[in-house]
Amino acid sequence: MMKIKVNENFAALKESYLFSEIGRKVRAYQAEHPEKEIIRLGIGDVTLPLAPIVVDAMKKAVEEMGVKETFRGYPPEYGHAFLREAIAKYYKRKGVSVSADDVFVSDGAKSDVGNIVDILGKNKVLIPSPVYPVYMDSNLMSGNKIELLEAGEADGFLGTPDVLDLEPYVIYICSPNNPTGAVYDREGLAAWVKYAKESGSLIIFDSAYEAFIKGDYPHSIYEIEGAETCSIEICSFSKMAGFTGTRCAWTVVPEALVTEDGYALKKLWSRRQATKFNGVSYPVQRGAEAALSEEGVKQCAALVDYYMENAKIISEMLTRKGVWHTGGVSSPYIWLKCPNGMSSWAFFDMLLNEVQVVGTPGEGFGEAGEGYFRLTSFGSREATVAAVKRLESVL
Ligand code: MLT
Repeated sequence: MMKIKVNENFAALKESYLFSEIGRKVRAYQAEHPEKEIIRLGIGDVTLPLAPIVVDAMKKAVEEMGVKETFRGYPPEYGHAFLREAIAKYYKRKGVSVSADDVFVSDGAKSDVGNIVDILGKNKVLIPSPVYPVYMDSNLMSGNKIELLEAGEADGFLGTPDVLDLEPYVIYICSPNNPTGAVYDREGLAAWVKYAKESGSLIIFDSAYEAFIKGDYPHSIYEIEGAETCSIEICSFSKMAGFTGTRCAWTVVPEALVTEDGYALKKLWSRRQATKFNGVSYPVQRGAEAALSEEGVKQCAALVDYYMENAKIISEMLTRKGVWHTGGVSSPYIWLKCPNGMSSWAFFDMLLNEVQVVGTPGEGFGEAGEGYFRLTSFGSREATVAAVKRLESVL
């Protein structure tokens, strides 16, 4: 028998990660009912192919890798300069000043969200509820003290710092929010930045869905004055450019993030990444660079538009059925209230068993999500239309 100790914080986690649990239930159902055709609107996984400009750039990069003179070995650990600069330019086109040197390229926002805890000590952590479960799980793994900021229909699923005493927290914000689709306006985000500055807190801002924003809302926390002194921003190519399978993302850790003990977070993150991460492959980084070019942004916006049409189709059906829902405007997710007071997992089971449509139970995003349910608009049009028809028959 081994005599080693394990990280006992894992005992605080649920048995499996939300989307793994859904996958397990769906596989079990399919094994029992092989004749049934299941429509998956659960995990937010894209279905449209990469934009042509991305494919061309990646092909060209692969060709370069096949020629002695242009072959490349390990990529620079923080990302190729061409991509870090393309990201800084992407911000600049939105009127935001981000230095390419503060940009760290990675293989996914999920990795960065999960890994960022490595550079932080024992802080009080403030996590919205409902929200993307990785914030909670990664902090539980580290044994951190977590407070929930519950949000609901009354506040439009947007928590505010008004309810907090002035204390230093590590604060997670996801805007547009996964799963509710709620987006902070400038005032709302400015209140968080003000709170963070006054309390000595750090904001970890997840902007993975910024490309879906409609209307005049901030796409980046750095649109708020002073945010660079209290915020890290994590963004991804997964949803904006269809990179869920390709893998590429970035994290901005501004030079100005320095603790009262004199620690620069950028230095710590640089050290962490250099030690534990070996970069993103050259062809993928070329593809990501192409996605951020002016033409690339246009082509990727067409992918987003397609998904948003799906969201509209789902939302219209729910409206016809009188089902309370939100989202689907500045986000690819529709957040609905389970009918007849059903629990979110009971509703999940009902939809899987009766009409073979898979969604995501709201409880998986935190207790405040109980009684709600998330549908993704990332399916194909055909699958979405078929799912809507099936849902309409049971709602
Ligand atoms: C989701 O369905 O919430 C996302 O696809 C999960 C992720 O981005 O990791």
